[in-house]
Amino acid sequence: MGGAELPLTNTARSRSTHPRPLLLALCAVVATATFLAYNAYLSSITANATKRVQHVPLKAQRILAQCAALQAVPGPPENFLARDTSDRFEPGTRPTLIRNATLWTGARNGTEIVYGDVYMDRGIVKGIGYIPQALYAGVGDVEVIDAGRAWVTPGLVDLHSHVGVFSAPFLRGAQDVNSGHGPVLPWLRSIDGFNTHDDALELAIAGGVTSVQVLPGSANAIGGQAFIFKLRKTSDRSPTSMIVEPPHTLNGSEPDSSRPLRWRHMKQACGENLRRYGNRMDSMWSFRSAYNEARKIKYAQDTFCAKAEAGLWDQLEGEDFPESLQWEALVDVLRGRVKIANHCYEEVDLDDIVRLTNEFQFPIASFHHASEAWLVPDVLKKTWGGTPAIAIFATNHRYKRESYRGSEFAPRVLADNGIPVVMKSDHPVLNSRYLAYEAQQAHYYGLPPHLALLSVTAMPASTAGMSHRIGILREGADADVVLWDTHPLQLGATPRKVWIDGILQVGADQEAIVIGKGKEDREFQETPRVPNWDKERRNAVKWEGLPPLTPAKENGRVVFHNVGELWVRDDSDELGIREVFNTLDGELVDVVVDGGKISCVGKHCMGGINANSVIDLRGGSISPSLMTFGSPIGIEEIAGEVSTGDGATYDPFKVEVPQVLGDPGGLVMAADALQFGTRNAHIAHRAGVTYATSSLSKTTLFAGPSSIFAGLSVTFRTGAAHALERGAIIKHITALHVVIGRAAPYSTTPWASVSTQIATLRNLLLNGQPTSTETGKWFKKAAQGAIPLVIEVGSADIMATLINLKNNIEQARGSFMKMVFAGAAEAHLLADDIANANIGIILQPIRPFPNNWDNHRILAGPPVTNETSLTVLTDAGVRVAVGVLEAWQAGNTGFDVQWAALETNGRIDRKQAHALVSTNLEKLLDVDGWIGDDGDLVAYEGGSAFDFSSKVVAVASPGRGVVELL
Ligand SMILES: *[C@@H]1O[C@H](CO)[C@@H](O)[C@H](O)[C@H]1NC(C)=O
Ligand SMILES: *[C@@H]1O[C@H](CO)[C@@H](O)[C@H](O)[C@H]1NC(C)=O
Ligand SMILES: *[C@@H]1O[C@H](CO)[C@@H](O)[C@H](O)[C@H]1NC(C)=O
Ligand SMILES: *[C@@H]1O[C@H](CO)[C@@H](O)[C@H](O)[C@H]1NC(C)=O
Repeated sequence: MGGAELPLTNTARSRSTHPRPLLLALCAVVATATFLAYNAYLSSITANATKRVQHVPLKAQRILAQCAALQAVPGPPENFLARDTSDRFEPGTRPTLIRNATLWTGARNGTEIVYGDVYMDRGIVKGIGYIPQALYAGVGDVEVIDAGRAWVTPGLVDLHSHVGVFSAPFLRGAQDVNSGHGPVLPWLRSIDGFNTHDDALELAIAGGVTSVQVLPGSANAIGGQAFIFKLRKTSDRSPTSMIVEPPHTLNGSEPDSSRPLRWRHMKQACGENLRRYGNRMDSMWSFRSAYNEARKIKYAQDTFCAKAEAGLWDQLEGEDFPESLQWEALVDVLRGRVKIANHCYEEVDLDDIVRLTNEFQFPIASFHHASEAWLVPDVLKKTWGGTPAIAIFATNHRYKRESYRGSEFAPRVLADNGIPVVMKSDHPVLNSRYLAYEAQQAHYYGLPPHLALLSVTAMPASTAGMSHRIGILREGADADVVLWDTHPLQLGATPRKVWIDGILQVGADQEAIVIGKGKEDREFQETPRVPNWDKERRNAVKWEGLPPLTPAKENGRVVFHNVGELWVRDDSDELGIREVFNTLDGELVDVVVDGGKISCVGKHCMGGINANSVIDLRGGSISPSLMTFGSPIGIEEIAGEVSTGDGATYDPFKVEVPQVLGDPGGLVMAADALQFGTRNAHIAHRAGVTYATSSLSKTTLFAGPSSIFAGLSVTFRTGAAHALERGAIIKHITALHVVIGRAAPYSTTPWASVSTQIATLRNLLLNGQPTSTETGKWFKKAAQGAIPLVIEVGSADIMATLINLKNNIEQARGSFMKMVFAGAAEAHLLADDIANANIGIILQPIRPFPNNWDNHRILAGPPVTNETSLTVLTDAGVRVAVGVLEAWQAGNTGFDVQWAALETNGRIDRKQAHALVSTNLEKLLDVDGWIGDDGDLVAYEGGSAFDFSSKVVAVASPGRGVVELL
């Protein structure tokens, strides 16, 4: 393996005592030696050893070749980078020259930046930097792209994806990710379930992702073999042709000793996902008994080969080479030829697997999810064969008990300990399309920029044994290249063009799709400035992932120095937000806050006097706080732990509502289920999201919504200590919520038909239950327009039905309903009708994914489409707001709207973007009057709510007379 290599200590190669060329030469000699030569060789040694003539069997040569092959170590041929044509080259592909680019190559540990050109031909990068014309002069028909100095990187590599085996849209027939046939299944192969029609393939490429490791699921201790796929559609359309360097075992169990061995890949998992097969002790025994099987076979092979190689054929008479098709993959693990991706979260689990690797002596390539890896660097370093890479999410934590101590600071802590960091999607858990966002957030929270870029390119590639050809830009590597609109670590960075194997996948017609408009400022081409998190990071480690998050409170005077911008809530403004001042690089001013209220703004406030606290915002801003909507934030602590939430409500469509409740609809109030001080609420609060509206709707990615009747929502303050604290509850009953849609494909409980749901809604709104019941009372109020009716709905067809229903009810009752569609992935198809019907839209989530059938007609946005749902609906005149689905996402609300605004190519300004998660949301939910001009304000240091460089440092609460210092 020539050229630069990333630091990786977990390869079998680094342990090998033989230099590779010598070893290969040895294998070749042994494999091609003739029968006669062996005969002579054997007679000479056996004469002394056994004093009798051995009967050399006819198959001796084959056996000796097989034995010699056991010594082979996987890896590319020595001269790999000198190849002329890629094995993946598609004839007819034009050579391409990208001129005048800023190239982040991934070399020199990610620190190399080259200003110049990239030349691609025959599926390979043929030149980087200065490209002499001679290189392409004779070739003819070269496609020339002028990059205008824009950033170019290698295609991104997602080390953890279930694309193809968990396909979008989710349908029962297209889910081949987990086998339920036992805890140990090393003989299964993810390729056998790979669906080439997954909608996510094209979307991931649109995010610059060119290669992924397709892993079986994590429901088994040993879940099966994984494969490295390139995402482009190949000319023969088969999954097989998408695999990068298919291991020789893929199409025959005989190793082919004439070619260098290729890496194999395997999925393992530990911890709570294996509950169906027992507890942690059971799963560790299933590992040990499986590896013991493999070890016995390996030992038998080695003994057999030692005899064969010593010429003791008589002792082998009647014996075959010991092997087992079922266990051969695990034997290869023990021979160090398999890159294991091990799902493993907690200290106990990581320790268990590290112990296992030492007992059976095999390496682990990467630990995945690994929420507590950052807390046990020394344990990781004891892994047999070297320290694994750690493949994690940036901010997706606390969704299950095992991930409760996950931290946004983990990438930096791991890197500080010299541990390779990989950011991954676990697609479709996170959309692989946004893999770059994981790196961007890791950078925001402290991972140095070169490591952040490596974490989605060369690091995952080398972890998978593929860095000789993917995840890196160098001569001889695969022509997988991304041309970005901004620096790739800028929030919302979007590929203008993506090539895989030199074939253009994205951006064929530069005129057709507008990308990067509004990002002309030179700053977008630079590495984003990010806040300093040293204090928070140290605290997180000290408290083992659970640092106290309650802010200090200040009732007296607080002075904010060097304020660059001040926005306040103002009812008289059309958007409800007024800019008080914006220095636009002019003189910064002071803002004095007394008892939570702004008392003076300007250069000459006498604020320094009697200030209890002085905060330097370094040109930052103060603006109205944000609201989160749509997740069970405040209703549950850990999504996967039912005992930390409200529990299941009695949905009348599913179960009999208990008589004693006295209400046929089982309609209940979220306010009664509120919990304060949950970590997700605290984290949202610290990110400037100080208000939340939660209903009892709970939608999980795989099981879908939990109920059709989702109760009456409550609006509360995320930073409050308990319900009785002043200002904790903004509005006890905010809106009436229902979920209307087709059954989620993997839901295990029966689901009423869409027609039944609509008929019920019609009945309740038109005739109604007696108003003596909760159901009767609140549906009547909704029909009269006295309370918003929020309908979670994705399908445009169902929305059309609901628009008709609304018209009928309004005509019959002479009312105006306040109807809101939440979710609304397909709302863009009906934008004008939604506007005419005066229905508000909460895009939830803002970046759509075609998960369920009801959501499958998404508007993907640049670089796939010009428009996004946001631009189409806003242009039609619909009031639009933005929500999230899961409670951990509430803390990323600011990122979501910054990014949404960037995606509109400058068509939505910062004030409009802010309104999406503040005043628009408040108006749609009818809580604007309840928050009022006295609503919370958030102080950002080093930028505004719309800068990736800023950090929330304080929340001023005029209504409560307090400033919270974070
Ligand atoms: C890359 O980083 C590793 C580990 O920090 C270091 O040992 C190595 O020298 C670095 N290589 C280069 C080319 O900077
Ligand atoms: C490279 O692109 C920049 C920005 O468009 C331009 O100013 C410069 O002249 C270009 N350089 C070359 C050599 O084409
Ligand atoms: C097996 O796979 C290798 C590698 O892709 C390929 O070269 C070979 O032709 C395949 N053999 C068969 C029989 O399909
Ligand atoms: C995208 O927008 C641009 C500029 O407005 C326009 O020229 C182009 O035709 C649009 N493309 C599509 C596919 O609508």
